[in-house]
Amino acid sequence: MAKLIINNEVKKSTINPEIYGHFSEHLGRCIYEGLYVGEDSDIPNVNGMRTDVVEALKEMKIPVLRWPGGCFADEYHWMDGIGPKEKRKKMINTHWGGVVEDNSFGTHEYFELIRQLGCKSYINANVGSGSVREMSEWVEYVTFNGVSPMADLRKKNGHEEPWKIDYLGVGNENWGCGGNMRPEYYADEYRRYQTYVRNYEGNAPIQKICCGSNTDDYKWTRKVLETCFDHSEPHQHGFMDGLSLHYYTLPEMVDDWNVKGSATNFTEEIFYQTLKRGYYMEELVTKHGNIMDEFDPGKRIGMMVDEWGIWTDVEPGTNPGFLYQQNTMRDAVLAGMTLNIFNKHSDRVKMANIAQLINVLQSVMLTDGEKMIKTPTYYVFKMYAAHQDAVLLDSNLTEGSTVGSGKNELPKVFESVSEDKDGVITVTLTNNSLESAEDIDVRFVSDGDKYGVCDASFVTGKMNAHNTFDAPEVVKEEKFTAFEKNAEGLKITLPKCSVVCLRMKKG
Ligand code: AHR
Repeated sequence: MAKLIINNEVKKSTINPEIYGHFSEHLGRCIYEGLYVGEDSDIPNVNGMRTDVVEALKEMKIPVLRWPGGCFADEYHWMDGIGPKEKRKKMINTHWGGVVEDNSFGTHEYFELIRQLGCKSYINANVGSGSVREMSEWVEYVTFNGVSPMADLRKKNGHEEPWKIDYLGVGNENWGCGGNMRPEYYADEYRRYQTYVRNYEGNAPIQKICCGSNTDDYKWTRKVLETCFDHSEPHQHGFMDGLSLHYYTLPEMVDDWNVKGSATNFTEEIFYQTLKRGYYMEELVTKHGNIMDEFDPGKRIGMMVDEWGIWTDVEPGTNPGFLYQQNTMRDAVLAGMTLNIFNKHSDRVKMANIAQLINVLQSVMLTDGEKMIKTPTYYVFKMYAAHQDAVLLDSNLTEGSTVGSGKNELPKVFESVSEDKDGVITVTLTNNSLESAEDIDVRFVSDGDKYGVCDASFVTGKMNAHNTFDAPEVVKEEKFTAFEKNAEGLKITLPKCSVVCLRMKKG
């Protein structure tokens, strides 16, 4: 039997809520239909935002939403998306399906959505095809409270008060779709652009995020930090607050990027290959983190994993440029495992944004006209929300076994443990096995006899179990009862292919 030792006397880093963040791009049906249907839609909405989606996201405790891309961000000109809607420019979304973008969802609509969700804002500015002036004026438009051309324009467009930008990305994937830059060149551009991100009085600070690496491009991380890291103490804060990292799990890709594998139709071998590829996140976070430590041992710069998740082939018959994919128990287990990895690295990982929120890639929800369903990944985020703002506790899983074989072998169980401000301990676990349940002896270093389970839930199912518009609750959060209290803690049994959340407090 595996043993989970929880050292509740060793409190580690605080788990930043933004680790549970999301990403929304003008891509396929993410913004249009997924989030925004317009004020005149028959779909129930408040100021154009779908009520069913907003309510579900609030219930899931969405902490931050990145917008407007992605690759779209480096072609987005924010002034096209303000003012009377009938006058807004129509453009071609060249990256995603070549469809017409009518700019009816722009800055005002984004901040209205943020208001309704009650979450933090994360705007990604255009470096690839934009200008310093354009970015700086966007910041002025959104956040300045005095008399200025941009603040006046915002007021003329109907919003007297400024909004708050919590995070600002200085470009996206500038090693690729954001300008195909070399790290040395981008780093100099970063220095220049970030200079003009002004923190206006009463509305500061804006946390600036520098474009980091694609997957294992450690050279990018090092080169960018060599040029951008400001060693003079007072200046560092606000010069660079975060460095991003993008990593997608492509279940079956070998050489051809166009063959990633089906979202629902895969073998057991591919299931384990997918999880093993997802587990690569542990190595990426560790190795990029080690380079960051060389420059920033005090860990003031956050690693922002602002794009991650499973990327499969699109659903048959759908627009290949829309990246619409189904979501199964495989997605749930990968999400649970990855979030446990982020929690355990929460001294460095300060934000992570799964791609993407709705109808695109590994989504938490899917829509079909007025219908909306929650995916298995949704329930993982909802269960794990208890970790937001809690303190990571030292935990150690021993005598556990592995699953998969050969190059696809990985640990069977992934866990993380935190304690919230009320002393409630949250333990989240994944059982990555398709073959067997796992018994775990959970022990506390102190007061094990005093802890009782106050809440417990889980998701489980066959590896490709998923929700559809006809059968929306094949996978859903259910009450978890497979535990027994004992003198040192408790014994739990994780069903195969499951994600479990236990909450415990002293009784
Ligand atoms: O999430 C889809 C795309 O993946 C994003 O636009 C881009 O940043 C990444 O390559």
